Amino acid sequence: MIYSRIAGTGSYLPSRIVKNAEFAQTLDTSDEWIRERTGIAQRHIAEESQTSSDLALEASRAAIQAAGVQAGEVDLIIVATSTPDFIFPSTACLLQAKLGIQDCAAFDLQAVCSGFVYALATADKFIKSGQHKCALVVGAEVFSRILDWTDRGTCVLFGDGAGAVVLRAADSPGIHSSVLRADGRHAGILSVPGNVSRGKIIGSPFLQMAGNQVFKFAVKVLDEVARETLAAAGAGVGDVDWLIPHQANVRILDATARKLGIPAEKVVVTVAHHGNTSAASIPLALDEYVRDGRIKPGHRLLMEGVGGGFTWGAVYATL
Ligand code: UT7
Repeated sequence: MIYSRIAGTGSYLPSRIVKNAEFAQTLDTSDEWIRERTGIAQRHIAEESQTSSDLALEASRAAIQAAGVQAGEVDLIIVATSTPDFIFPSTACLLQAKLGIQDCAAFDLQAVCSGFVYALATADKFIKSGQHKCALVVGAEVFSRILDWTDRGTCVLFGDGAGAVVLRAADSPGIHSSVLRADGRHAGILSVPGNVSRGKIIGSPFLQMAGNQVFKFAVKVLDEVARETLAAAGAGVGDVDWLIPHQANVRILDATARKLGIPAEKVVVTVAHHGNTSAASIPLALDEYVRDGRIKPGHRLLMEGVGGGFTWGAVYATL
């Protein structure tokens, strides 16, 4: 049996930090409201010239170095993003060229804030098929480009960044189980309902969200999918060393952990200094905790995401 195992992690955050107080200068909001309702204190925002593939490149280089592989060994690249550099070619192909890799499979995956979990589960299945041995799995976003900066209900929530892992074929897991779900009937509660046609933007190019509905849906499905994923591995909540949820709102993280019965000290929380970085949030959080030594080899991780689509999913893995 072939398994897949995370061999290295990396991440990148643009240098510009925007603190909550900056929003209060132009919008009817406050540092207090944003902290209390979301747990967010600051977010990183990319320079105009920086694209998702630029952020992905830095995160990927760090993950490749941490994994101790040569870039040329990578035979599959999956980039989870909802803010690609272009309509096409894919951000994964642009990243491949920037890394100086030729010929390997490369594609983008669009599952919004569940994107990294979807990409990791997909790469796991490619590796288990025996056709690929070394995958680069990336979440990269410049959500600052799709925010209406006059809408206090959304623009204070998101940030830019990228995270990456190298996933290698192994004799033992590694990834124990994954569950992916979607329900397109809820497409309307979180969307960027626009497109480009005949040289014009049709619809809206800005993120729209019914925050309350998203909140309730998120807590419900994160609980369900966590239990389903653990059960698929024959594991229980007590086996989890670290819960790594998508970082959207600290109240969602707290409610999810409480429902699952996972103590707060086992929950990875980075939303305070990253904001919601969509597909990048889980690998960014993972890399931060790996590099500062809190997450160690052998720890059992439950990663789970929820986002537009609606999509949700989880991956249970031993590092
Ligand atoms: O990545 C996955 C997708 N995203 C999420 O998971 C986000 C899920 N939702 C949330 O995190 C929360 O619903 C929000 C943080 C977006 C909103 O928090 P809430 O506690 O659900 O507030 P609310 O939407 O019920 O709004 C309460 C009030 C409203 O005013 P009124 O109608 O009561 O007068 C809003 O207009 O708060 C107002 N409000 C703000 N006030 C100050 C909304 N945004 C702001 C703001 N500053 N930035």
